[in-house]
Amino acid sequence: MRRVVLAYSGGLDTSVAVRWLIEHSDAEVIAVAVDVGQEADATVDSWEAIRQRALAAGAVEAIVVDARQEMAEEFCFAAVRANARYEGKYPLVSALSRPVIVRHLVRAAREHGAHAVAHGCTAKGNDQVRFEVGTRALAPDLDVIAPARVWGLTREQCVEYAAKWDIPITVTKEKVYSIDENLWGKSIECGVLEDPWAGPPEDIFTMTKVTADAPVDVVVGFEEGNPVSLDGQRMDAHDLIIRIGQLAGSTGFGRLNVVENRRVGIKSREIYECPGALALLMAHADLEDLTLERDLQHEKARLEPRWAELVYDGMWFSPLKQALDAFVTESQRHVTGEVKVRFSPPGAGGVVGRRSPAALYDLGLATYETGDTFRHEDAEGFVRLWGLGVATWAARQGEGRAES
Ligand code: ARG
Repeated sequence: MRRVVLAYSGGLDTSVAVRWLIEHSDAEVIAVAVDVGQEADATVDSWEAIRQRALAAGAVEAIVVDARQEMAEEFCFAAVRANARYEGKYPLVSALSRPVIVRHLVRAAREHGAHAVAHGCTAKGNDQVRFEVGTRALAPDLDVIAPARVWGLTREQCVEYAAKWDIPITVTKEKVYSIDENLWGKSIECGVLEDPWAGPPEDIFTMTKVTADAPVDVVVGFEEGNPVSLDGQRMDAHDLIIRIGQLAGSTGFGRLNVVENRRVGIKSREIYECPGALALLMAHADLEDLTLERDLQHEKARLEPRWAELVYDGMWFSPLKQALDAFVTESQRHVTGEVKVRFSPPGAGGVVGRRSPAALYDLGLATYETGDTFRHEDAEGFVRLWGLGVATWAARQGEGRAES
């Protein structure tokens, strides 16, 4: 019997997809749930419950993969090094998790001899692009099946379908928002948010509720562009992201309210909660200000939007992304040091200090006090030559030309 590996979340759509694939593609289904750091709050099922649901829905095998450390080290930190903000704003929350999931889908497909992978994405989003292009990049021979793009079921019909097949799904009330979540933050869409004029209701936020009544300071330590410590305490990538997210989030820092351009041509209104991501990106960029030589920093800044765009567009595994990664890695050799950030309720955050053994800031050159080492006499000739072309232009063609 042929086999399909399905990216399984435990929700209604992917649970229905298990049964739908059995019925429509005449294959056994292997459900793979990838833990990329979805928040395990009280409303969320345990991974074992999710696994059992996949089996109850008809999967012959259900696997849970803990990919949190991998997500943190390989994906989130790569985004930090690249100062990655799609369209200057979105820190790629959902976009970063898809290649991680794809990697494990493909791995499971190989292990179980599957001919295809499947995902629960609809036709209108970016995630289908990321799943499919990612899969093609790692395994061009595998088919990709997208049941939700084909079945044409409304949410109500999905609920009926689940009931008919005894799929144990608890859908109490109308689902209002579409939420995607991982270690890097949370993407919230749909419901009232579809009106770009409507402000987000306060109750959608879980990671950025203000509980602090005074500013919170934290010192982030970096080595070669990677965050390695908080307040001097070394932490692994996963714990560090969670911890700084809690600190920043407790002051209300980390919300975004934007309209963005999807790859498929649709503009969409998005609310993001990503306190840890925004805090680390802010700190890292500041340390680069201190440690990167000017030309390198400027050229990197030109390439960063492209890196973010590639990742947004599902090109994590692609030759240009690989080549840009090599540039970014090389650029980070001296991005080592500490950045002090301050989060002030409600919602403000900024860098208040930075230091590095590799700092290019030279007090002797910068100071206006005693101890000045700058050669003032060099400036006159430098500036004269810098402006020589403009002066010549002005004299012959511009404002300063002699009237004949
Ligand atoms: N617009 C964001 C992105 O494309 C968020 C997508 C959220 N995904 C979801 N399935 N709800 O990365």
